[in-house]
Formats: sequence, C-alpha cells, structure tokens
Amino acid sequence: MKEPVRVAITGGAGQISYSLIFRIAAGDMLGPDQPVILQLLEIPPAMDALNGVMMEVNDCAFPLVKDIIGTDKPEEAFKDADICLLVGAKPRGKGMERADLLKANADIFSVQGKAINDHASRDVKVLVVGNPANTNALIAASNAPDLDKGQFTAMMRLDHNRALSQLAQKTGTQVTDIDKMIVWGNHSATQYPDISQATVNGKPALDLVDRDWYENDFIPTVQKRGAAIIEARGASSAASAASAAIDHIHDWVNGSKGIVSMGIPADGSYGVEEGIMFSYPVTCKNGQYEIVQDLEIDEFSRDRMKQTEDELRSEREAVSELL
Ligand code: NAD
Ligand code: LMR
Repeated sequence: MKEPVRVAITGGAGQISYSLIFRIAAGDMLGPDQPVILQLLEIPPAMDALNGVMMEVNDCAFPLVKDIIGTDKPEEAFKDADICLLVGAKPRGKGMERADLLKANADIFSVQGKAINDHASRDVKVLVVGNPANTNALIAASNAPDLDKGQFTAMMRLDHNRALSQLAQKTGTQVTDIDKMIVWGNHSATQYPDISQATVNGKPALDLVDRDWYENDFIPTVQKRGAAIIEARGASSAASAASAAIDHIHDWVNGSKGIVSMGIPADGSYGVEEGIMFSYPVTCKNGQYEIVQDLEIDEFSRDRMKQTEDELRSEREAVSELL
C-alpha cells in the first residue's frame, strides 16, 4: 500500500468542494491505489456545514480515505500538505466580472500563501481555483518566498475543457479526437482559446470550421461560458470546476496526454513578461510541467495574447500591496 498523500482543500463546505472532495476520496484525482488524508479548511461560520460534509465523507466508507481533518486554522489545514487546492473564496454573481472579486478575495490568498510557505510539504503543488484565479495564485506565490513560484498554478483547465467540448460538438467528433488545444492568458473574458494549433483526428481544426465561427462564436462562447452558467443556474459552475481541478492535478502528478493549459508563472516564453500567472500550453511528466515552445504564433493570436497579458498586468497593479 502506498503512503497517503495529504490533500488540503479550502472552502470545504462550498459548492465546488461538495463535488471535489468526494471525487478525490473515490480516487479520481490521484488514482485508485493512492490513499489520501483530507485536510479541509473553512471559516468559523461555515464549520457546522463543513462538519456535515465530513460526516457524509465518513458515511461513504471510502477505502482510500485514511483520515479527514476539518479546521478553521490555515496552519492546521496546510500542515505537511502535498497538494493544496485553494477553492475557498467568494464567487461572482450575475452581471459581475471575475476581476470585481479581486479586492474581496485577495487577502485570503496572502494569508494562505504564507501558511503554505510555513507549514506545507517542501514539494507542495498548489492549484488556485478561487477567482480571479490567476492573480490570486500570484498573490499566494508572492507570499511564499521559501517555495518556488512554479509550485503555484491557476486553474485554466475548465476553459481548456470547455474549448475541447465546443470544438468536438462543432466538428461532430469526440474530445479525445482533438490534440493541441490551447487556452492562453487569464481565466477571464480576455482569455484566448486558440484552435490555430489544434488538430481533429490529425487534420488542422481551422480547415474543418469556418473562420467566422472561430472568431465570432467559438472564442466568445468559451470566454463567456462562466457567465452563461451563472445566468442559467443562478450560481457559478461547481461540478465542472471540480472536474477541471481533478484533471489539472491528475495530469501534473501523473503526466498529461499531450498539451493541456495551465496558469503558471510567465517566464518570458512567447514574449509574455515575467511577473504574472499566464496560461500556457504545457505537457506534464514525472510531476513537472513544461511549456511547449516554438509554436508559430500568427498576428491574430499575438494580438489576443497581448490583450489578456495586459489585463493580467493591470490586475497585478491593483493588488501590488499584497505582492
Ligand atoms: P461557495 O461560496 O459555494 O464556496 C466558497 C467557500 O469558501 C464557502 O464555504 C466559504 O465559507 C469558504 N471560504 C471563504 N473564505 C475562506 C477562507 N478564507 N478560508 C477557507 N474557506 C473560505 O463558492 P464556490 O462556488 O465553491 O466557488 C469558490 C470559488 O471558485 C469562487 O471564487 C469561484 O468564483 C471560483 N471558481 C473558479 C473557477 C475556475 O475555473 N478557476 C471555476 C468555478 C468557480
Ligand atoms: C467559471 O468559469 O465558471 C468560474 O470562474 C465562475 C465564474 O465566475 O465564471
């Protein structure tokens, strides 16, 4: 039997966690032979609700769950954590942009970045889900000076999966037929879902769809999908967000099949300035991700990448006191 992996999840009593925790406990994230210890963080007013969630986890009698801890103290939740899923934050409502949450949520990520720095495993892998995810990940990473900034990532996998699903539906194919999908930039309405590199059953995606659909339907649909879900459900995406978080960590730990999109510290690749968390095409192997280099970027793509980079820079400006 493998040693248990400690998985810390913040916002344990929230909507996303209600899907996420049970799937992790069932082995969907780290594999069916990987035991886990769940370390759940909440704020004091949500501790009763968290207790209820923990009762339900116990009632599932998951063979892989070796222990479950619920706490309102970050230092306890992150103690020796191997994986931290930072989900706990306010979600947006109808008519808001994710950046409107910047001030409301930013402090959470400076406190938690410090606690991860001081208490988590030195090899910890951190995924920020709480919005605005990229800039929150930057805040958390900046508050963890003893760790490598690359240990902090932001969730772009939901956008990536949305893009796969839209293209598969349009071309009458399966998501598994698509390779080299990329979402660049910010988890916001400026993100650039890019099919110019993608293939469907080995054929260039751009040869299978018309340009008008790509520019005026596909791109805005993926960019605004979060708002469309809020409009339809009256609450922001939860099960699909949990599923994307599982995919992100699964691939980071176990390796990806081809290219996936991850929000990671920009390192100058593709001309994107360092100091922001930018979504890049990456491949994962042996617990590490690597940016896919040397893709040919046309003028249309360059322009879209610049817009989303500029937005991330201005978000960084808005929280500069926390960095
Ligand atoms: P929710 O309101 O249902 O749950 C959030 C939970 O976090 C609540 O239980 C709250 O008590 C808790 N919380 C608040 N502050 C906390 C803190 N300091 N420490 C620990 N827990 C804290 O919201 P949700 O629907 O689960 O969404 C959570 C976040 O994820 C939101 O910011 C939402 O916008 C974001 N989100 C991101 C993506 C993405 O793709 N990156 C997708 C969906 C949702
Ligand atoms: C999403 O993309 O569904 C989430 O980020 C929630 C939101 O505010 O759109």
